[in-house]
Amino acid sequence: MHKHIVLLPGDGIGPEVVSAARRVLDAVAARLDLTLTYEEHLIGGCAIDRQDTALSAETLQACQNADAVLLGAVGGPQWDNPAAPVRPEQGLLALRKGLGVFANLRPVRVYPSLVDASPLKPEKLQGVDLLVVRELTGGLYFGEPKGRFEENGHIRAVDTLEYWDYEIERILDLSFHLAQNRRGKLTLVDKANVLESSRLWRKIAMDMASRYPAVQFDVLLVDTAAMRLITHPAHFDVLVTENMFGDILTDEAAVLSGSMGLLPSASLGGTGPGLYEPIHGSAPDIAGQGIANPLGTILSVAMMLRYSFHLEEGACVVELAVERALAEGCRTRDLGGSLTTEEMTDAVLDRLVF
Ligand code: IPM
Ligand code: MG
Repeated sequence: MHKHIVLLPGDGIGPEVVSAARRVLDAVAARLDLTLTYEEHLIGGCAIDRQDTALSAETLQACQNADAVLLGAVGGPQWDNPAAPVRPEQGLLALRKGLGVFANLRPVRVYPSLVDASPLKPEKLQGVDLLVVRELTGGLYFGEPKGRFEENGHIRAVDTLEYWDYEIERILDLSFHLAQNRRGKLTLVDKANVLESSRLWRKIAMDMASRYPAVQFDVLLVDTAAMRLITHPAHFDVLVTENMFGDILTDEAAVLSGSMGLLPSASLGGTGPGLYEPIHGSAPDIAGQGIANPLGTILSVAMMLRYSFHLEEGACVVELAVERALAEGCRTRDLGGSLTTEEMTDAVLDRLVF
C-alpha cells in the first residue's frame, strides 16, 4: 500500500515534533506493507513571512490531493499584532474548512504512570478515558457576519454563532457511532438555556438518540461541563460540542492527562484526507531547543494509521510504545523529566513491538 502525506510543520515547536513523528511513521511503515512518500509545505506565520499568506492555494491543493496531512502548530508572538492584516491562525482555519474536516476527535487518557503529573487528586483520575468530538468547520469561528464595522462614530465587532441542521446532524451521527463503539455514553455539551443554536443541537440530538438505543445519551450545559470535567472526569465517555466550546474544554481536559504535550487529534469527515495535529500549539517559549514533547504528534500519527490508513495494528503498536515509554519513566521537561524531543522519540521507537 502506498500513501502520500503532506507535512505542514508550521511554527514554533511544530517542525521539531513533526520530524519526530515522521521517524515513528517511517519505522511503522517499514514493518507493515506501507510505502510512504512525503511533501512539505508552509502554513501559518512562516507562510506569511515567505508567501504573504497563511495558507497558499498551492498548499491547500497539495493537502486536498494527499492521503493524509500532518500538521505541527501555527502562531507565535511575532505575528500577534492585532492590527496585522493576516494571522497565522487563519491558515489553520482555512485548511480545516478547505478539507471539510468537520469532526475533530480529541481523545484524553490518563496514563497510570502520569497520575502525579496532574494537579488533580489520583482518585479523581482513576478510569479517565474520554473523547471530545469538537465541531470544527462551523459555529463561532466561521459564522457570518464577522468583522469590525464603524457605525455612528463607534466601532462594532461582530462574530456570529450559526449552525445549519445538516452540520449538526453529521457530527452528532458520527458521535453516536463513536460512542456505540466505546463505552456507550454520549454527552452533548451546549448552552441551550441561552443560545438558539444550542437549542437546535439539543432538538436534533434528542430526536437522533432514539435511533441509537445502545447509547446512553445526556446533555450538559457547558459551564457545568467545565466543572464536571474536573470534579468527575471519569464519568465521561464521548462528549460532542460546538467549535469554540470544544476548543476551550479540550485545553481544560488536557490537564487531566498531565500535559498539553500529550494530546493528539484527528480531524475527519471531509471527502478528502484527514488532518492530524497535536492540540498543544506552537509553544514559542521553548521552540528550537529540542525539548518539546513529541508524544502528542506521535499519538496523532497513530490516529492517522487508524483512521486514514485503516492500519489498526500499526496504531496500537504506536500507542502501546508510548504507554510503555511513559510507564518506564521516560519524561520530557513538561512532565518533569529531562529527555529531549529526540530521546523521547528514540524511547518510543525502541518500544515498537509488532
Ligand atoms: C486548537 C487551537 C486553534 C483553535 C487555534 C490555533 C486557532 O487552539 O487547535 O485548539 O482554536 O482551533
Ligand atoms: Mg485550542
